[in-house]
Amino acid sequence: MRIDVLTLFPEMFESPLSHSILKRAQETGIVDIVLTNIRDFATDSYKKVDDKPYGGGPGMVMMPGPVFDCFEYVEKLSPEEGRVILLTPQGQKFNQAKAAELGAENRLIFIAGKYEGFDERIRIGLGAEQISIGDYVLSGGELAAMIIIDAVVRLLAGVLGDEDSPKDDSFSTGLLEYPQYTRPEVFRGMKVPDILLSGDHGKIAEWRRRQALERTKKWRPDLLKDNNKE
Ligand code: ADE
Repeated sequence: MRIDVLTLFPEMFESPLSHSILKRAQETGIVDIVLTNIRDFATDSYKKVDDKPYGGGPGMVMMPGPVFDCFEYVEKLSPEEGRVILLTPQGQKFNQAKAAELGAENRLIFIAGKYEGFDERIRIGLGAEQISIGDYVLSGGELAAMIIIDAVVRLLAGVLGDEDSPKDDSFSTGLLEYPQYTRPEVFRGMKVPDILLSGDHGKIAEWRRRQALERTKKWRPDLLKDNNKE
């Protein structure tokens, strides 16, 4: 998969992309992540990329010119057509199903804005879909892009080993994940449930399924309502 990110702050991505799973996924060639600075496409000597909103109001709005020029440059970096995603709190809310959907694409092109918003012609002209990571406002789309990239890349074939398979992850099953334990068997008086030490894989699977359902009912009943998984 190829992922392009158009941003005013490419440096913000350096640390998240150079550790752990995202690092390994790039090193093994499963994903190629390319950052391009929108400011490089500003046309005036001040490198201006935002301006006051027509009609008045607070804040600054991303100008269409530098974003379009940057996009047209990035688009040509690869022959693969990309799915264009604008990070904005006005977008459709991101979830695990969306991560899986995006993971099936060959190329994603994220556009992260830093200011109060994008000139509407960016969304319309680039045919971008809008995604939000939740009902709160961040100071820019960069962190949202990183979260989505992380959630998508870990699902790509070969990124996680078999042992870390994402198939039992919370939300993949429509339920929260069952409780996990590792050594020691007793920690500060708290014991690992006997069933997990029994070696009976059928019973363990049943126990886990029940636990997952119970914690979902208790902590995230909205998931059961959304998916009719009960
Ligand atoms: N930019 C600002 N807030 C955001 C959010 N909640 N999701 C995605 N992009 C954003």
